Amino acid sequence: MSKNQYLLAIETSCDETAVAIVKNERELVTNIVASQIESHKRFGGVVPEIASRHHIEQMTVTLQEALDDSGLSLDDMDAIAVTEGPGLVGALLVGVNAAKSIAFAKQKPLVGVHHIAGHIYANRLDKEFEFPLLALVVSGGHTELVLMREHGKFEIIGETRDDAAGEAYDKVARTLKLPYPGGPHIDRLAKEGEEVIDFPRSWLEDGSYDFSFSGLKSSVINTLHNAKQKGIEYRPEDVAASFQASVVDVLSTKALRAAEEYGVKQMIVAGGVAANRGLRAALQEKFEAVDTELLIPPIHLCTDNAAMIAAAGAVAYNQGHRAQWDLNANPGLDLELYGNRGKLSTE
Ligand code: KG4
Ligand code: ZN
Repeated sequence: MSKNQYLLAIETSCDETAVAIVKNERELVTNIVASQIESHKRFGGVVPEIASRHHIEQMTVTLQEALDDSGLSLDDMDAIAVTEGPGLVGALLVGVNAAKSIAFAKQKPLVGVHHIAGHIYANRLDKEFEFPLLALVVSGGHTELVLMREHGKFEIIGETRDDAAGEAYDKVARTLKLPYPGGPHIDRLAKEGEEVIDFPRSWLEDGSYDFSFSGLKSSVINTLHNAKQKGIEYRPEDVAASFQASVVDVLSTKALRAAEEYGVKQMIVAGGVAANRGLRAALQEKFEAVDTELLIPPIHLCTDNAAMIAAAGAVAYNQGHRAQWDLNANPGLDLELYGNRGKLSTE
């Protein structure tokens, strides 16, 4: 790259309106995240209609803040990237239309980005990728083990058959009457508790890299219900520690087994649950003994942000991927198909 390349990215797939700018694929220039969590808290989860309305209110404000923060203008951008899916359709549409408007008005190339590709690429802002690598994606909507042999291509070797890891955290938190999103609260309580309840580990069939968390969630609810009937009261700290021990055990054990079987150079952890201290510690301990390098992004890049969309978008842009003007929000966008998409041009 002879001159500096700037790419602006927009992320609105769920409950954060985010705009970021990266320079030369890996250098974070600015990363603005406007969270709506406060508005959704009283409903115990994200309300799609409210999310879309907030995105509309926040979109231009967040964009302006990112430009002010960077000292750059839209004319300085080489391309505009946006999360096209998966996510809430009404929420995605706000970002997609904002990105299309900017790209059209400024005659800049437009790049569509898969949200999970973004979570994975958040790690590249910290450390260069070495292939083959595996990514353990653990977010509110996804739990997957993704194999990457080269940039921009994704093979899913295991995924959840029911709830995502973050979803299980949020549901158990709700049972413990903790606020939404529950993951960080369980994480905090777990640190002060002990594993006094032996919750099941769902290993599934021999050799499977799939996950299942709904049985564990039911087990927590049933255990608390039965205990209450017998007049036993568990400390929330101990329930949190016991639940977290089961999730972390399965995630870290399967991640290590997959890393060894596929002989990968790096294991990347991505998504909101990658912020979990118990998971980070267990993975660090397990991967210390092997040659695979463990990469976990800093906490602010684990939960939803646009820096990760910019990081993935910049690679897609330099590989020649361009979205057309009919780019649409795609709530069910498939990661493997996204990686195999053709190169289209708006130029
Ligand atoms: O990646 P993310 O921000 O949004 C999605 O794409 O889904 O992930 C949000 C999820 C929520 O379920 C939240 O409870 C969980 O990540 N989470 C955590 C922690 N921080 C966020 N789960 C466990 N421990 C944490 N520290
Ligand atoms: Zn996410």
